[in-house]
Amino acid sequence: MRRAGQMAAEVLLFAGRLVAPGVTTDSIDARVHEEIVRRGAYPSPLNYRGYPKSVCTSINEVICHGIPDSRALADGDIVNIDVTVFLDGVHGDTSVTFEVGDVDDHSRLLVRETRAAMYLGIGAVRSGAPVCSIGKAIESHARLHRLGVVREFIGHGVGTEFHSGLQIPHYYERSHTTPLETGMTFTIEPMLTLGSPNLYLWDDEWTAVTADQRRSAQFEHTLLCHDDEAEILTRTPAGEGAAEVYATE
Ligand code: MF3
Ligand code: CO
Ligand code: CO
Repeated sequence: MRRAGQMAAEVLLFAGRLVAPGVTTDSIDARVHEEIVRRGAYPSPLNYRGYPKSVCTSINEVICHGIPDSRALADGDIVNIDVTVFLDGVHGDTSVTFEVGDVDDHSRLLVRETRAAMYLGIGAVRSGAPVCSIGKAIESHARLHRLGVVREFIGHGVGTEFHSGLQIPHYYERSHTTPLETGMTFTIEPMLTLGSPNLYLWDDEWTAVTADQRRSAQFEHTLLCHDDEAEILTRTPAGEGAAEVYATE
């Protein structure tokens, strides 16, 4: 899991270097696919439940699972790139929302506070803590900044399976009392919105967009629960993930 996580982090950093106005998400998909295969891994999204591409690219009002296509990134867009690699029998799953060129102040706040919310959720992880302590930390931060929290998509156990049965909501529900345990591996991947978090799916049955068309951002790390804290698996040995490298103030 450490090796898969590290590779996912490195591939996401690679993807981030491709982000620029004029670049199509199809070309990012092709380059990321090639890079993952070159490293001896498999891009987990490809053919997963019929998903047609190797990476998810979610622009502006797209909340998650955007399918790469011929649309070029434009100055002022925000784009989440979600990379998952399958290496030696296990998955590493991580994503970042990147800013394309000059982005407006509301979008920058959204990106910055969604990143912060993910880290607050990570900070709540320890053995014995109920799973709802993660959602509590994330939702209270979102409230502080008047941002919405998407409920339909949640973090998940990850390991030999891409999505295991373990559910990690990003909102607070006190009945979610399942205790976290040392050795568990799962993602935290909050999606926060500038407006309402209500969503609908496009006819492609993947692309989730905000009902009010306002923007959404997402960050994701794969974690390993220890007695007193979470270890972030989707980082390079230098302790870097794309969420750190591309942090903006
Ligand atoms: N990587 C996404 C997640 O964080 C899942 C993508 S499923 C796909 O769980 F089929 F769309 F790739
Ligand atoms: Co995930
Ligand atoms: Co993901």
